[in-house]
Amino acid sequence: MSPDTTPVLDVRSLSLEFPVFGGSVRALNGVSLRVMPGEIVGIVGESGSGKSVTAMAALRLLPPGAYRVTEGSLRLGGDDVLAAPEPLVRQWRGRRAAMIFQEPMTALNPTQRVGEQMSGVLRVHRRISRSDALTQAQSLLRDMMIPDPAQVLRAYPFELSGGMRQRVMVAMAFSCDPDLLIADEPTTALDVTVQRQVLQLLRHHARERGTAILFITHDMAVVSQLCDRVYVMYAGTVVEQGPTRQVLRDPRHPYTRGLLEGLPEGAPPGADLAAIPGQVPDMRHPPTGCPFFDRCTYADDVCRQRPALLPLDAAAPAGNEAPDRRRLACWHPLAPSDAIEGRT
Ligand SMILES: Nc1ncnc2c1ncn2[C@@H]1O[C@H](COP(=O)(O)OP(=O)(O)OP(=O)(O)O)[C@@H](O)[C@H]1O
Ligand SMILES: [Mg+2]
Repeated sequence: MSPDTTPVLDVRSLSLEFPVFGGSVRALNGVSLRVMPGEIVGIVGESGSGKSVTAMAALRLLPPGAYRVTEGSLRLGGDDVLAAPEPLVRQWRGRRAAMIFQEPMTALNPTQRVGEQMSGVLRVHRRISRSDALTQAQSLLRDMMIPDPAQVLRAYPFELSGGMRQRVMVAMAFSCDPDLLIADEPTTALDVTVQRQVLQLLRHHARERGTAILFITHDMAVVSQLCDRVYVMYAGTVVEQGPTRQVLRDPRHPYTRGLLEGLPEGAPPGADLAAIPGQVPDMRHPPTGCPFFDRCTYADDVCRQRPALLPLDAAAPAGNEAPDRRRLACWHPLAPSDAIEGRT
């Protein structure tokens, strides 16, 4: 990974809160995360850990006025997302980064045929005729292994199965040839076989076109199949990160280990995160120390201070910002010998 390559997404020390009655919800607390061109990067963590907020913030899709960025920066392809005027950000959506959501019905217009929607998206970014756009839409659907694309183009979204709708969403997301595709739990609602097909298509097309993916999921098996690197989030912070294989085989944070531990060996697709006793902290009153303190069996007095996210390999040169470096925020890292056997 060349150090001078511009990341497609570069989030640095991002803190973000939602003002609510009588206070605020601190959704992100110093999150740093980078996606390099062509990389497939996962974010995993329990519900409420800040995965979707991170994704939405990257495309400035959070409701304006409902949130405050209190610290940090966010860049798409080197450009400042937080400072850019809205028309510019609108141009970036779809082109620099496209988003796929869990439930395509919320992203597709129920009153418009698939063909009109797809050609509409294509024509926002390119000066092409309606019929050329429809031809391109058809070929994009064919790329998604849709057997009868012409029929799907004529259909309304509700006439399609969930798996078919998600393929349409994936085709639409690729339609403007984005540098980055952000997928927020895109296959959670699908059955295991369809889920696997959609993931394979996603991976195949991303690799073929050099598209980077930021993939948000609860499913460690999906992380293991799909992602080059993974960020483990907890209570609005990154607690551990690194190459997928290393993190899943040899988790060093008690939280990551907890997420993996209850899973059957070789975790089949669809397996959710293991349940860890206790609850995520109430982010209206975020903990000042390690956010995992209350649930961690290793916690002691030192954990009342917040641990920094530091490179695991202390011997590596200081200031090395390589995004693929293994990092950990824990005062009591698990020893490598505690690794979970047999997991990849
Ligand atoms: N519009 C909002 N107003 C107030 N709080 C919000 C808003 N959106 C998100 N939050 C809060 O921000 C925190 C992070 O939420 P986020 O949706 O990012 O979690 P997540 O990791 O995506 O969870 P899940 O796995 O359930 O999708 C949560 O505490 C959530 O309640
Ligand atoms: Mg979410």
